[in-house]
Amino acid sequence: MAAKLIKGAEISKEIREEITKELQELKEKHGLTPGLATILVGDDPGSKVYVGQKEKACAKLGIYSERTDIPADTSEADLLDLVKKFNADPKIHGILVQLPLPKHINADRVIYAIDPDKDVDCFHPVNVGKLVIGTGRFLPCTPHGIMELLRRSGTTTEGKHVVVVGRSNIVGKPIANLMLQSPPGGNATVTLCHTGTKDLAAFTRMADILIVAVGRPKTITADMVKEGVVVIDVGVNRIGKTPEGKGILAGDVDFDSVQEKAAAITPVPGGVGPMTITMLMKNTLEAARASI
Ligand SMILES: NC(=O)c1ccc[n+]([C@@H]2O[C@H](COP(=O)([O-])OP(=O)(O)OC[C@H]3O[C@@H](n4cnc5c(N)ncnc54)[C@H](OP(=O)(O)O)[C@@H]3O)[C@@H](O)[C@H]2O)c1
Repeated sequence: MAAKLIKGAEISKEIREEITKELQELKEKHGLTPGLATILVGDDPGSKVYVGQKEKACAKLGIYSERTDIPADTSEADLLDLVKKFNADPKIHGILVQLPLPKHINADRVIYAIDPDKDVDCFHPVNVGKLVIGTGRFLPCTPHGIMELLRRSGTTTEGKHVVVVGRSNIVGKPIANLMLQSPPGGNATVTLCHTGTKDLAAFTRMADILIVAVGRPKTITADMVKEGVVVIDVGVNRIGKTPEGKGILAGDVDFDSVQEKAAAITPVPGGVGPMTITMLMKNTLEAARASI
């Protein structure tokens, strides 16, 4: 039987409607409009698209946004000065430096320079530490989006075995941490797999909920999952172009075969992707609220 689709586009729309109401309330009660500063270093086409999408989302929701594009040869010192300027700017509640940065800039130093109260990406070690302890105000956008996808599609995580494939700082490690936190965390039993895992399929077959973030198409095939699994496919892989020249995207999971066994699955595109920017908007709202 084909799996139920967990439609990120629809769930994201629902959350944006909630954000709109909360923004109105913030404005009426406190005269406050949240502000997001985005910084793009260089002209990587992918990064340009992502920053553009974030700007557009702000404009649609009525969040103030300030975008700064600087050349690829900008010095680290100048970038740090820019971050400091936004740290001190009361109109700005969230700061986002689009990654990756050019090689001559130390990305860690830049992330560490962001005021943790304005770190809406949740990459600063203070916020990562709070997430691990379970006291974080900000949750990183993609993992937070995954939690919402599961919750709002009616998948309980409580007591389930969640298997995460991929241990990146952006997706794998934080989602594994969120899943193992006591409520309102996932309260699940968690296994985290990576390239050092021997016999990956032995673990993925045990998953009640399987979250895959590896960046390689068809890493998970039908023989690697059990009947009734819920699959969250984080992967975004460009696998070719349509005759019209449009990019074709695929996830990390072999969707066609896995959906025959799964109870529910996220499509790519239209699954996890739309949630990430929505949760960035949510974090910007939370940062503004906390500044009152
Ligand atoms: N939709 C969204 O909003 C969104 C957001 C973020 C990322 N993504 C997508 O998600 C994917 C992963 O992103 P990321 O930033 O987490 O990637 P990443 O930093 O490249 O990390 C990939 C992880 O997967 C592991 N891995 C790779 N191949 C594997 C295999 N065959 N078996 C087991 N583990 C394997 C790696 O293990 P090692 O650590 O051992 O190398 C690594 O931990 C990418 O396609 C990215 O575009 C989407």
